Amino acid sequence: MSREEQICNCMGVSRGEIEDAIKAQGLKTVEEVGEATSAGTGCGGCQSLIQEILDEING
Ligand code: FES
Repeated sequence: MSREEQICNCMGVSRGEIEDAIKAQGLKTVEEVGEATSAGTGCGGCQSLIQEILDEING
């Protein structure tokens, strides 16, 4: 999966930005990712993708 892949179209947030925020700040929930990166705070349609990234990183 490319780090450049746009995950949140509303806020223009890439997979890499989300991964880095999760790792650097120990984020556990979609809500925390939204606070840290703005991803998922628009239409909400990308929240399932954000959850998948959380699951990949946090297991
Ligand atoms: S695509 Fe992420 S909030 Fe709309």
